[in-house]
Amino acid sequence: MVLPEEQARLYQPRPELLPAAHVPSLSHYERLYQRSVEEPHEFWGDVAKEFYWKSHHTGPFLNYNFDVTKGRIFIEWMKGATTNICYNLLDRNVNEKKLGDKIAFYWEGNEPGDSAKITYSELLHKVCQFANVLRSQGVKKGDRISIYLPMIVELVVAMLACARIGALHSVVFAGFSADSLCERILNCGCSLLITADAFYRGDKLINLKHIADEALQKCKDRGSPLKKCIVVKHLGREEIAVDGTCTKSPPLKRLCQDVQILWNPATDMWWHELMSSASTECEPEWCDAEDELFILYTSGSTGKPKGVLHTLGGYMLFAATSFKYVFDYQPEDVYWCTADIGWITGHSYLTYGPLANGATSVLFEGVPTYPDVGRMWSIVDKYKVTKFYTAPTAIRLMMKHGEEPVKKHSRKSLKVLGSVGEPINPEAWLWYYRVVGEERCPIVDTFWQTETGGHMLTPLPAATPMKPGSAAFPFFGVVPAILNESGEELEGEAEGYLVFKQPWPGIMRTLYGNHQQFETTYFKKFPGYYVTGDGCRRDKDGYYWITGRIDDMLNVSGHLLSTAEVESALLEHTAISEAAVVSHPHPLKGECLYCFVTLRDGHEFTKNLTDELKKQVREKIGPIATPDYIQYAPSLPKTRSGKITRRILRKIAKNDQDLGDLSTLANPGIIKHLFNSRCDTKQ
Ligand code: WTA
Repeated sequence: MVLPEEQARLYQPRPELLPAAHVPSLSHYERLYQRSVEEPHEFWGDVAKEFYWKSHHTGPFLNYNFDVTKGRIFIEWMKGATTNICYNLLDRNVNEKKLGDKIAFYWEGNEPGDSAKITYSELLHKVCQFANVLRSQGVKKGDRISIYLPMIVELVVAMLACARIGALHSVVFAGFSADSLCERILNCGCSLLITADAFYRGDKLINLKHIADEALQKCKDRGSPLKKCIVVKHLGREEIAVDGTCTKSPPLKRLCQDVQILWNPATDMWWHELMSSASTECEPEWCDAEDELFILYTSGSTGKPKGVLHTLGGYMLFAATSFKYVFDYQPEDVYWCTADIGWITGHSYLTYGPLANGATSVLFEGVPTYPDVGRMWSIVDKYKVTKFYTAPTAIRLMMKHGEEPVKKHSRKSLKVLGSVGEPINPEAWLWYYRVVGEERCPIVDTFWQTETGGHMLTPLPAATPMKPGSAAFPFFGVVPAILNESGEELEGEAEGYLVFKQPWPGIMRTLYGNHQQFETTYFKKFPGYYVTGDGCRRDKDGYYWITGRIDDMLNVSGHLLSTAEVESALLEHTAISEAAVVSHPHPLKGECLYCFVTLRDGHEFTKNLTDELKKQVREKIGPIATPDYIQYAPSLPKTRSGKITRRILRKIAKNDQDLGDLSTLANPGIIKHLFNSRCDTKQ
């Protein structure tokens, strides 16, 4: 139990961090913040001077319209300036900053003992080689490349190679299904796919190539022109000799024997074969600051994933600056972000942000619980990690296993701890602070979104007194407001819709191929503001507290899902006539999926059917979307106009009898029945 005074208490930054800190006090933060929002041109103009620009911007430094009533929404930072983000991340660090021999990544494989490291110059060479490979395959500026890889160095190489030649990468999380991959390939018209043979997540073998093959077949059936697939030999690396014998040393030997892949000579090419003859030099494509950098899909409340599009100049400034200040980056740091690169956190804070600062990072392929629940801390000790960034769901999972696996490891290298992806409950915050960080490490609870490109609300490690569960104050350049239902800005202590009033450099520019949906989703509800979709409270001290999504989205283990996409996956089963999915609290995952289904005539609700439905959702979307509970409903509560009332279903799932006004319901009689047949949700 967290006592109210523990939660209300301010946790002060530790004095050890102060001497070197970029922002050593709250008043220093306030000064910088004021400048960043009042004179964005000067503030970001100074940041831009740290980077290499081939030519300067031609028009205004910032040009935008945030108000739908005044015309098309657009945001442009430094339009007309030319640069290359890969050049800034690699060539500039190697040549100008002399960081060529510095480690860019310590790669830690799923299996303890399987590890590697790569320096900035080695990374530059590999990226140049792969950029040349892409060019030799006909890839040009503006083309879209789909990347479906596990957490291996080749994933970063592939992304930066795209950036080097001006192609857009669309990274698809390797836990997504063939259907999800196919949908994403088709949506942005990818011309090439990069994948791997297979990998292990914990003790589970994932035959990635097999899933990619299935996705490519589906794409072909739906008329996609994608005809090229580059395959990294990861699990099978350096072992299958010409005579077919496996030469890998234990403990990896077991792994390489398990993998069998199908090879399609018409489309498939081995990564290592293409790389072997590629030059390590590659002239970057000089791009406009407003040219597209990448597309990353995120769940949309319509059920179809949205292709969030980021451009390169502003994103580079924002990812680099937020990384530097929020983790108080120092050159000797070893930084570890546990997020998968398939999510925005892995883009901004495992790839672009750290590399732009010349940082050394850990890139971890595995899971926190394999081979045991002390794995994270053994990695922290192995690499002497100083800054550590993870999600509340991982912290709650660790909490479940108690303090002992944490305390077995030293962790004395740790200086700053970060949290991202979902609200962190005060219990988890305090455990993270006391047990993991031994009350020595500030916690930066960073609120942001795929769409925002980088941190929006966050404490700064040496400046901000912390409150457990609050994301504290806005980051530089960010102007939050809290609105009520009628769109009025609320002052002081308040709760309502969280919006942002002016653009920051990392904001997305559109949804790929659907600018109208972009405007509708983020700018229509409250003209003049960017609408996050999150609820938020501001306390008397001005601290912001995210209260969770206020749309049809839910957050399972830090991954956003829309109820609509899970419902449509359920509806594809022949036994189902109607489905309604609601969010339900879960002790580890934060939220989980509770589904109500009605059946077509002639079908029975059996254990077998629920297993099939769970499998169906896993296959359509991916394992993260697996429903926790499926309840049979003879019918669903609806309004007279026929809308399913999810508000009531949420209460039924929670066994909360306080239902409020039921007068708009067409069929209130069903409610009692649904309460009586609830799934047992006791954990
Ligand atoms: C939620 C992840 C509370 C929020 C970077 C947001 C958070 C959605 C936090 C974006 C946090 C993220 N506290 N809620 N620190 N961080 N969220 O696009 O609902 O995967 O809108 O980006 O996650 O999820 P996304």
